[in-house]
Amino acid sequence: MFKAVIFDLDGVITDTAAFHFVAWKKLGEKLGIELTESFNEELKGVDRIESLRRILALRNQELDFSNEEKAVLATEKNDYYVTLIQQITPNDLLPGISDLLKDLKKNHIKVGLASASKNAPMILNQLGLTNAFDTIVDPATLSKGKPDPEIFVKACEQLLITPSEAIGIEDAYSGVQAINDANMLSVGVGDAETLSAADYVFSTTANLTFEELMHIWELKNY
Ligand code: BG6
Ligand code: MG
Repeated sequence: MFKAVIFDLDGVITDTAAFHFVAWKKLGEKLGIELTESFNEELKGVDRIESLRRILALRNQELDFSNEEKAVLATEKNDYYVTLIQQITPNDLLPGISDLLKDLKKNHIKVGLASASKNAPMILNQLGLTNAFDTIVDPATLSKGKPDPEIFVKACEQLLITPSEAIGIEDAYSGVQAINDANMLSVGVGDAETLSAADYVFSTTANLTFEELMHIWELKNY
């Protein structure tokens, strides 16, 4: 039996992608860079500064800004994003997540959070989930972002387990790569084609139950 489940936040526990998109789009307008929803897909799981770098790269403008200027732009986007996420409430939990968290606790399975978002503690608070996690990795302590496995390995270290004893759940391509490279069982939520590297993909969190996780674990380990 697995000993822990490590969750991504954005797109797995709640859907913040639209808020990120609106905030980046506003910054893009100021810079004269138009952002599309399909490009926004490529920013899922990617940290704030790297997201900005990819946006500037759309117009080959990466080198036009110093690191200090990029930090100011990223802060501007974040200030707007933070105003948008004030509207998140416990009703914004994705389907099935509340029951899954309860069932994991009932069965003494540890629960960790591996999110690239520096706003994760605020979002968990708004969702009423601050006490639902046994550990939260602080992304500010990481040397590399997803797809590097560091964040998932660190979550396991913080829970005093080995990655092979854990399941990771992600909605982003880069996140699934990170889970796989951490040597954990990977579960994707979303498009089966995009997440084809995952050990198992659910089209929606509504189907993500404790029973299903046990089933997948048995298939993988016997
Ligand atoms: C990830 C999101 O969870 O967090 C990305 O999928 C986002 O879109 C990243 O850029 C960093 O978030 P934040 O809140 O620290 O800007
Ligand atoms: Mg995500």
